[in-house]
Amino acid sequence: MTINTAIKLVKRPSGGPITAELFEIAQSEIEALKAGEVLIKQQHLSLDPAMFGWMSPDTDSYIPPVALGDVMRSSGIGEVIASNHTDFAIGDRVMGMMGWQQYYVSSGAGLNTVLAPLPNEAVLSVFALPGLTATQGLFNIGKPKAGETLVVTGAAGSVGSIVGQLAKAEGLTVIGVVGNDEKAEWIVNELDFDGAINYKSANLDEQLAKLAPKGVDIFFENTGGDIQPLVLERMNAHGRVVVCGLIADYAKETPTPGPSWLKVIKKRITIQGFTMPDHFGEIPQLLEKLTPYVLSGQIKHRSHVLEGLESAIDGLNLFYSGANKGKLIVKL
Ligand SMILES: NC(=O)c1ccc[n+]([C@@H]2O[C@H](COP(=O)([O-])OP(=O)(O)OC[C@H]3O[C@@H](n4cnc5c(N)ncnc54)[C@H](OP(=O)(O)O)[C@@H]3O)[C@@H](O)[C@H]2O)c1
Repeated sequence: MTINTAIKLVKRPSGGPITAELFEIAQSEIEALKAGEVLIKQQHLSLDPAMFGWMSPDTDSYIPPVALGDVMRSSGIGEVIASNHTDFAIGDRVMGMMGWQQYYVSSGAGLNTVLAPLPNEAVLSVFALPGLTATQGLFNIGKPKAGETLVVTGAAGSVGSIVGQLAKAEGLTVIGVVGNDEKAEWIVNELDFDGAINYKSANLDEQLAKLAPKGVDIFFENTGGDIQPLVLERMNAHGRVVVCGLIADYAKETPTPGPSWLKVIKKRITIQGFTMPDHFGEIPQLLEKLTPYVLSGQIKHRSHVLEGLESAIDGLNLFYSGANKGKLIVKL
């Protein structure tokens, strides 16, 4: 008899920190597998800022919220430990939306075998959501050209750090916006960004002017915040704004008003939001684009690994404090 421990969402957050009272930890016996089912022991699960949206009551978004009483939604990697499915064998390493739980029973839908000879942490940090998001946003929306200047916010984060490195590899000047000096040093010294701005420091506009004297061609927006209108003011003609995330606004009751549209028309700027579920059908093409950069050593990453299922709850707060150093992952 196998007992599963799962964390279910029972209350929606109301702007403050994520606390244990929003969740219920439940144990249940795993029933015998039916025909076509596969049982996975999850090993690593991914924490993502998107979870703030999934926990909210907002039904007018790109994906429905997690229903109260349901296991909290997340992607993860695990090992097949029993299978009644012809496509999956015991011992296979698989990735899918397994949720905050130790074991996952799947029909096989949305489950993919992981073949890359890399540790789970590296797969989740580079080849899963962060790398796919960076590749889709930068190449298909940002359309980078050598010699251009790119500003990326959340630059030491899992998406932003890959965006910046891909743009460097394409011959752009890359400026990263981060929330502390350690992250600024990491992206400049380790990832080879051309410059970094700590958005909590003073004279942001002067710093931007100095680092982007020729203006900004691509603005990859992961955060929002006070730097957003300053970057927009410096956009060049035909610039592209890739709206990937706005974490500064996720816990706000009233989001910050957007910038003036005057600049948008004067400089013929394209502003485009995107969310990855629209592009899950294009994963093979995105991986084909991303993989050569990784294999040639141009993409470094760091993973921030928390221990134990329950660490997921408080772990989410690290996104808001900025205390996560790289891709947030829970090891089960
Ligand atoms: N569109 C999509 O399909 C898609 C897919 C994946 C992710 N995203 C979005 O992309 C963004 C980055 O995601 P990620 O997984 O790579 O997370 P991450 O950057 O690894 O972590 C979030 C980071 O946001 C920064 N942050 C927190 N509050 C902030 C604030 N008020 N102002 C500015 N920065 C703040 C913190 O870094 P600092 O220490 O630098 O402040 C924190 O470490 C998120 O907004 C996420 O929702 C979108």
